Amino acid sequence: MATPRKLVTTSGQKLLIGREIASRGQGTTYESLVLDTKQKIVVKLFKKQFNTDNTRRRIEYLVRHRFSERCPIIAGPFETIADGTHLGHSAPYAEGNSLDQLLQKGSVNLVQAIQLGVALTHTVGVMHDENIAHGDLHSENVLVEVASDDVLIPHLIDLDNFNAPGQPPPDMVGQNLYLAPEQRQAIAAGKPAVPDIYTDRFQLGILIHEAILLKHPATGADHDEAAFHEAMCRGQWIHDPCNGGERYSALGGCPSGILGTELSRLFRRSLSLDRTFRPTASEWKEALQRALMRVFICLRCNGSFIADAYSFCCPHCKTPFPKIVIVAPAGRAIAIEEAAVSIGRDSLDGNPTVSAQHAIFRRRGPMTYVESRGRNGTYRWDGKSWVRLPDRTLIAVKAGDRLRFGELAVHLREAG
Ligand SMILES: Nc1ncnc2c1ncn2[C@@H]1O[C@H](COP(=O)(O)OP(=O)(O)O)[C@@H](O)[C@H]1O
Ligand SMILES: [Mg+2]
Ligand SMILES: [Zn+2]
Repeated sequence: MATPRKLVTTSGQKLLIGREIASRGQGTTYESLVLDTKQKIVVKLFKKQFNTDNTRRRIEYLVRHRFSERCPIIAGPFETIADGTHLGHSAPYAEGNSLDQLLQKGSVNLVQAIQLGVALTHTVGVMHDENIAHGDLHSENVLVEVASDDVLIPHLIDLDNFNAPGQPPPDMVGQNLYLAPEQRQAIAAGKPAVPDIYTDRFQLGILIHEAILLKHPATGADHDEAAFHEAMCRGQWIHDPCNGGERYSALGGCPSGILGTELSRLFRRSLSLDRTFRPTASEWKEALQRALMRVFICLRCNGSFIADAYSFCCPHCKTPFPKIVIVAPAGRAIAIEEAAVSIGRDSLDGNPTVSAQHAIFRRRGPMTYVESRGRNGTYRWDGKSWVRLPDRTLIAVKAGDRLRFGELAVHLREAG
């Protein structure tokens, strides 16, 4: 079909069709302009065999949902094109290159990847809240714009494979690398492999895995198609750090130990064969938001990781995190061995100015914090005078610091 120069949408908007961006699968996409407003848009025209009543109904359904107005990072269709010859839609133009290209360049750091994950899971959640599955979540259907301060903003595109109750099913299945086990098995059995919210959740897990660990979850078991199929249908996360998964670390990307307990648990669930066990987009979003607050950098190797109460060494170079010892009068020493250690009058020397539960020391990865709870306060020597620390607030401390609980002075040293 020859490329038209101009098209009119069903609502009467005049479009100027420009450069072809891609032609594959169901249709061809063009960079285009709205003639009146000069807004830059993308027009997708479906190939002849997809120019059907069902496709038209599906496009109109998406247009009615106005996703791009509900969530600015969804570049979903906002106008229908159906002029008798052409069937297609227009959508807002999203800036940036595909997530796939970005990840191949390896130019995404951990904080950026987590931020990207937060935005992406939010977006997918907006669709799922409407009971609509995207149906084709993969790294080429996410365009990534680099905003100021190097914050990465994803744009979700290509909603054409969506599935929603009461709508004709999509004509295509999603991208092979991202298909859920039940879709793979359906295809193998010659049955339709219709996407739904549960297959989306599976695909979302893969996308987040790629963004954060810079590798697909089947990396290490993908030497041929059969091995790949088996790995994807196993219902197990082969990179699970609690199950020997770090042996795949050498195969590129980041060691799975950088994820910390909470994200690891979500990956375990997201690859599950039990569809209902897979985390929802909002569970991911909340966990990723928490992870953002727990990113640390190893002082030895500069590797970054997410640390929690259960991390005791750098997942990259395995250097143990420093362990602080509180040295009290008369040589009494309390090592901060656990994630949280409460100290008070009994554990010190019975000093009456020290409360029964005076302070809690907390370890978070390479850092140790003190949280003051005592009536008479906790102070730190700044070289000239004692400065009272705020109550019930985590304050970073280190070996060499001198602290005072009420009237009792101690100092901190490193164990070993
Ligand atoms: N809203 C958009 N903004 C910018 N580029 C887009 C947009 N939608 C699609 N594209 C570009 O066109 C390509 C093909 O579009 P897509 O909708 O993914 O169709 P398909 O994957 O079925 O060919 C995308 O990979 C992307 O490069
Ligand atoms: Mg696409
Ligand atoms: Zn390290």
